[in-house]
Parts: sequence; C-alpha cells; structure tokens
Amino acid sequence: MIQKPRGTRDFLPDEMEARRSVEAKMREAVRRFGYREVCTPEFEETELFTLRSGEGIMQEMYVFEDKGGRSMALRPEITAAVIRMYINEAKVAPKPLRWCYFADCFRYERPQKGRYRQFWQFGAELIGADTAIADAEVITLAAEALNATGVIWDLKVGHLAFMKNLLKDLEMVAQRRVMAHLDKKDFEGLEATLADMGKEDLAGSLSALTECRTLGEAFEIAGTIPEKERVEQMTGILDESGVSYSLNFGIARGLDYYTGMVFEGFAQNLGAENQIVGGGAYRLAHLFGGDDVASCGFAIGFDRVMVSLGDVQPAKDTIAGIVYTSEGRSFALAVARAFRAEGIRAEMDLMERGLGAQMAHASKSADFAVVIGKREADAGQVTLKNLHSGEQKALVPAAAIAEVKAYGAR
Ligand code: HAM
Repeated sequence: MIQKPRGTRDFLPDEMEARRSVEAKMREAVRRFGYREVCTPEFEETELFTLRSGEGIMQEMYVFEDKGGRSMALRPEITAAVIRMYINEAKVAPKPLRWCYFADCFRYERPQKGRYRQFWQFGAELIGADTAIADAEVITLAAEALNATGVIWDLKVGHLAFMKNLLKDLEMVAQRRVMAHLDKKDFEGLEATLADMGKEDLAGSLSALTECRTLGEAFEIAGTIPEKERVEQMTGILDESGVSYSLNFGIARGLDYYTGMVFEGFAQNLGAENQIVGGGAYRLAHLFGGDDVASCGFAIGFDRVMVSLGDVQPAKDTIAGIVYTSEGRSFALAVARAFRAEGIRAEMDLMERGLGAQMAHASKSADFAVVIGKREADAGQVTLKNLHSGEQKALVPAAAIAEVKAYGAR
C-alpha cells in the first residue's frame, strides 16, 4: 500500500469542515480591517527565499531542479513571495496595501504533533506604512483573527532595536548567530558562541534583556535607541486598542528579514510546538529589485490553532435524502433540483436499491427522507419523513422545502 509522504496529512470531510469553519472566522476578522486576499505560486525561484530568509529556513527547504535546469523551491513561507508579487504587479498601487492569504507551506522538518512538512499559514502583510499605528494594526489584526477562533493564547511583543543595540559592535553574521541562539532559547549555545567571539561580557545584558518585561527596564539595559519614541507610541496604541500582551525583548524570530517590531503568540494548551503566530516589521522589497518599502505582517500556524482548539463542531447542514422508485425517478430529479435551488443539500440514491434499503441508508445519513413513488409522482407530491421524529406528511415540493428549511433554522 502506498502511504502519504511523512509529515503530510489527509483530511476527511468532517475535518475539512471543521478547518473551513475556523478559517472562515479568521477571514471575517481580517476582512473587517480591510485586508484582501492574494495568492502566489506554490513554488518560486529558490533565490527568492535564500536572499534574506536565513540559514534555518534554507536548510529546511524543498528544492528541485526543473526540466529547464532552474533551481526552484516549494515555498517555506509566503512573505517573500507576497513582496515579490508586490514588486511585479502592484508597485504603483496606492499605499498602504492590506493583503492577506491562506495557503500551504513546505518545510523539511522533523515531524511531530503541530509540526508538519506541509502546513497552512493564515497571514497578512501591510505594505508601505512605516508608522507606530501600522505596527499596532498588524498586531491587533493577528490578535483579532486568533481570538475569533476561540483559541487561548498569550501574545508577546518586542522590538529588535534593543538586542541590536547590545550587539552593534558585532559583524552582521555574528549578530545573526547570537540571535539564532536567542530565538531557540538556547542559552548554553549562546554562551559558547559569545565565548568564541571573545564577547562573554554580553551574556549578562542579553539575558537581562530577555528577562525584562517593561520598556523602562529595557531602555536601561540596552541604552538609548533611536526607535524609543516609536516603540512607546506603538505600545501606547496597543494599550488604547485593548490588546492584551506582554513585552518581551528576547524575541529574535527565526527569519532574518525583520527590522523592528516583532511579535509571537503561544497557545496555552500546546507543548513544544506552541508558537501559533509570528510576525513583525521587515524590509525585503529592495532585495528583489523594488523600492525600499517598509512592510509589516504575520503568519498564523493554522494547523497548530486546530490542534489547540481540539474538537471543533461546525454548524451542520440539514440533509434531505431523495428516496424514489423507478416510476418516480423523473419527478424525484425535479424535486432534488428544486431543493438544491433553495440551498438545501439533497442527495439522490445512486445505487438502484429498493425503497426499504434506500430508507435504511437515509436514516443513517440524512435528516429527512423525501419519498417519491408512482403515487407521489402522479399527485405531484412527496412524502416528507422527519428521520429524527419519525413524523411524516404528504406535501407539495414547495411546502416540503419550507418544512426542511424551518428545521434547519430552528
Ligand atoms: P514563522 O514564525 O516561520 O514566520 O511561521 C509562522 C507560523 O507558522 C509559526 O508561528 C507556526 O505557528 C507555523 N509553522 C511554522 N512551521 C511550521 C510547521 N513545520 N508545521 C506547522 N506549523 C508551522 C513566517 O513564516 C513569517 N513569514 C511570518 C511573517 C509574515 N512575518 C511577516 N509577515
């Protein structure tokens, strides 16, 4: 038997309906802020992701050579692709652009609960607004999208300026090495790396910065940073907007393109893979041949949200099973059409079974049986049976439709 690839999943109808119901809540939340959906290719030129995404992501990428000898990669994330699209298609559009997406990504990671090789991100990118209120809008948007699903989580907001100020004497490559340790909360590795660089003295202030939870303390530890006012404004707006969050200046993010505000969210009931959202302000456009436009965005790990929510029960369709004899078939087809035209899910028997077997199937799979034999067809009526109560009536199709609709709306 052929199995699905490791780290991928199959989704049966019940699970897909649960996923779509949660997705719809996120979509509705971002729609209310004016974010409109975009879609980019599933694969891109590998270079798009190697230019600035960082070591971590590059090692996890699915890379292949196409028949023309070009190096292609399955997208490990969507931000770089969205910015490429912005440059290709929308450079001159009025700013800011508010875009969102819901799409699958691919990372060759060691699979475990909440960590897959194919996974879905629900995200948004705000392009062309470089203000405190823009940063705050993106955080608020992520919070609203997650809160709409009912997931219980904690939001941590930080800013890279603090860490960067402490690391300003290091080369870019060295800064990234230090930040990669901080991102993974690998403090032992951090000490070893700092010792390697002869920068042991930084360990104390870096760990103090990681621990501190107020702006005042952070300024004390990191020294004066030019972004001071911007950070104060942004946190002020978050407070005014009623967003609940804590400050965390140890957030380093796993991707290399961030430049300022960064944030992460963690589901309370998940174990090791509990990060359900990550985002921040970044600059990528200039690397892809565009203007140096400021952007800010986030991506929610949709699959982790589903794991955290557990058993999601979406609203159920009312189902009409159309049960008929061969003499009733033409009328049954017309009745099924009429039910569907009114938005009701109507399922015809397809197995050429007798009425008894059809009724037995309907009682397992439907809410109503719409029975059509010769007598009903001749009279232009159906026998509508409520399969939960057992009640049955002879009705013209319009009345049967009204009855099924009333049941669905109860
Ligand atoms: P990221 O933190 O790499 O950020 O991924 C965002 C979220 O995707 C993570 O917080 C996590 O919930 C989920 N995720 C990542 N890897 C996996 C996996 N293997 N299985 C399941 N879920 C996973 C980004 O991708 C950035 N593009 C976010 C962003 C948008 N920044 C600015 N705009």
